[in-house]
Amino acid sequence: MLFRKSGPLKGSITVPGDKSISHRCVMFGALAEGTTEVTNFLQGADCLSTIRCFRQLGIEITNDPTMDYVRIKGKGLHGLQRPKDILDVGNSGTTMRLLSGILCGQSFSSSMTGDASIQGRPMGRIMEPLALMGADIRSINNNNRAPLAINSRPEQLRNSERPYSSEQLYNSDQLSLFKQHRLKGIHYKSPVASAQIKSCVLLAGLYAEGETSVTEPSLSRNHTELMLSEFGANITSVGTTATIQPYPKLTGRKIHVPGDISSAAYFIAAGLLVPNSEILIKNVGINPTRDGILRVCRQMGADITLENIIDQGGEPVADLVVRHSELTATQIGGDIIPTLIDEIPVIAVLACFAKGTTVIRDAAELKVKESNRIDVMAGNLRRMGADVTPTEDGLIIHGGKPLHGASIESKADHRIAMSFAIASLLAEGETEIIGAECVDISYPKFYSDLKSLA
Ligand code: S3P
Repeated sequence: MLFRKSGPLKGSITVPGDKSISHRCVMFGALAEGTTEVTNFLQGADCLSTIRCFRQLGIEITNDPTMDYVRIKGKGLHGLQRPKDILDVGNSGTTMRLLSGILCGQSFSSSMTGDASIQGRPMGRIMEPLALMGADIRSINNNNRAPLAINSRPEQLRNSERPYSSEQLYNSDQLSLFKQHRLKGIHYKSPVASAQIKSCVLLAGLYAEGETSVTEPSLSRNHTELMLSEFGANITSVGTTATIQPYPKLTGRKIHVPGDISSAAYFIAAGLLVPNSEILIKNVGINPTRDGILRVCRQMGADITLENIIDQGGEPVADLVVRHSELTATQIGGDIIPTLIDEIPVIAVLACFAKGTTVIRDAAELKVKESNRIDVMAGNLRRMGADVTPTEDGLIIHGGKPLHGASIESKADHRIAMSFAIASLLAEGETEIIGAECVDISYPKFYSDLKSLA
């Protein structure tokens, strides 16, 4: 796909629903009793993968993509059915890691795979805590990567009644088997600040004996904690530790998904960079565990105002007004990193136009995202003429060098494609993005929305 330099961007835009929250609506709705109705559901390929997996697990899900409306008929904590085939998560790390936690609590065996990118991403980080809880989860190729196989507790439990509370409903033989084989709660100290690891362990904790907690080095996005609590789970957060009690009664509910700040980030960057632009981005989730992009932009001198701040089901939401600004370089590292981890590619684009040298550190996680985002960003930005050095855990960007059009390798990574669509608006000449259609993962209408502002 080809892109050219743009004139001022003006007007308003509503970005699609939050990807992390949309996944969780389906997962928690499936484990709840009663119906969960979701509006502003993200129709991105990743969230559709979650729907597909839960349908394979016997959950009735209605999806009306014209209305971004999804209805999930929950079957309770023990209502999932053994899938006939291997579950395919496509490109979605969130689906694979969170679903692993849920599947380890079931009385049936299952297996999961995904696309080439997923098969290259580390799964040892969830296999290890799940094994500590007593789960039997294996990497089929023995390389700590997908495909994964999860072996159930004994066959005898497989077709037994599905109790809400094991103590109340199992007969005594079943109960002793169940107790022998069920997961044990753990207090897990995660080496990485990752909401996917945290959520995986907490979800397995729904099925464990005793409480389960996860402590992370810095606080990662807390949508699991907020939403599970809204569904009725007993979950508490103190500092960077989240603790869950097992076997709650989860109840279906209505959820309106806030706009995804990770998708808004591209329009924030476009509005700040393209001279004379002014963009209103409506209904954006500004949860403090996700708003690092706003804090960094402000540090860089950005003119962004928040209007109409409201609470939507425990998640803060606002309209953002973004105006073209002269930016200065900044330093980004430490606790802020998990709050902007998916926005670093587009922050790197911002840094190319900021006065001075921007240093991004403590972000080694970028190497194990949908692509190695440190290398892919550095390589592509250099191709456009930027002065960028990749490091072990981030990037060093000397801003102020003019960019020119180039051929960009998206590496099938949606956030790379969208970041370079923004860079191209400022570059002299034509930019080609190879594999541009990968934006379908998180933002199917990205290019037409961008065009609507030009
Ligand atoms: C996500 C968590 C983040 C993020 C991903 C979505 C989630 O991954 O990069 O896009 O929904 O929990 P990590 O928590 O592994 O950093």
